[in-house]
Amino acid sequence: MAQGSRSAAVPAAASFFALLAVAAPLLLCCAPAAAELARLEHPPKDGGSLSLLVVGDWGRKGTFNQSRVAHQMGRVGEQLSIDFVISTGDNFYENGLTGTDDEAFEQSFTDIYTAKSLQKPWYLVLGNHDYRGDALAQLSPVLRKIDSRFICIKSFVVNAEIVEFFFVDTTPFQLKYWTHPKDDHYDWRGVAPRENYINNLLKDLDGAMKTSTAAWKVAVGHHTMRSVSDHGDTKELLQLLLPVLQANGVDFYINGHDHCLEHISSRDSPIQYFTSGGGSKAWRGVQNPTEDDLKFFYDGQGFMSLQLDRSQAKFTFYDVDGKALYSYTRSSLMETGHHLQASGYVNEE
Ligand SMILES: *[C@@H]1O[C@H](CO)[C@@H](O)[C@H](O)[C@H]1NC(C)=O
Repeated sequence: MAQGSRSAAVPAAASFFALLAVAAPLLLCCAPAAAELARLEHPPKDGGSLSLLVVGDWGRKGTFNQSRVAHQMGRVGEQLSIDFVISTGDNFYENGLTGTDDEAFEQSFTDIYTAKSLQKPWYLVLGNHDYRGDALAQLSPVLRKIDSRFICIKSFVVNAEIVEFFFVDTTPFQLKYWTHPKDDHYDWRGVAPRENYINNLLKDLDGAMKTSTAAWKVAVGHHTMRSVSDHGDTKELLQLLLPVLQANGVDFYINGHDHCLEHISSRDSPIQYFTSGGGSKAWRGVQNPTEDDLKFFYDGQGFMSLQLDRSQAKFTFYDVDGKALYSYTRSSLMETGHHLQASGYVNEE
């Protein structure tokens, strides 16, 4: 359960959501720079497995194939019996939410992801477009009264026993938003000054990762670390965040920001990088080779699934028709990656 002494007062039979509703306001009111990372508990299924979907860069009121992706997420989510959904940010275009009363919340989220299998917690980070609106609105418990699935905290940890997810607020890292905002306004309330915020965040992440005993450690952020698409690598994350992930044996980094699906294996680290940013507008038409090992790239819309147990982690990318395009499995014994044939949709597991 989330930290906070009031949680203990909730009867044992209360649902996870009831706990969260009580504890979250406590977490969110704390000074962001000094507080420890919020921690949420999400136990795996009996037998110790976990499955989830990852989607990013989506909130466009159903347009640009957002609704088609949502429909297929519902179908695959049912098949895999998912436990939750992760959003890699840019939840609402073009400029986040105007406030907690912005109807874009329902139009781009509640009314779009309607499938039964998607009525699970959504753990979300903010993207740069979210920071261009009222960034605090997305963190507000008021939204959870409208749709209880929406669990957005700037940086936090979800502990699923076999795996810990470290959600990182990556937008403040990117210097150009501070120095060259052009006509965009960024909502830095609770963030500025940048250097303090980043130093504290990295210290908190390092502390949380060091105490983790999970079989898998997964970091999630909005911005790319490694990408062959439009935005490319994010220099600030490679300089500041990557050393913390490397020092703590993080296995995977999952991001959005580039509106595509990609898997990259870099030359300087065993960390595998997955971009799932195909939630709506895609087809950017950019693919720049880098020195890293590009395992898979798809420029169109889609999403990703992740199925985990203690010994194995399996990633699969799907397109707008729900067709599985590529799978990658990592275990302590072996690694495999393969493209699936057009006709070869396999019902995994
Ligand atoms: C929607 O998806 C189809 C199939 O990939 C694609 O041909 C079409 O261009 C997409 N529409 C938009 C607006 O991206």
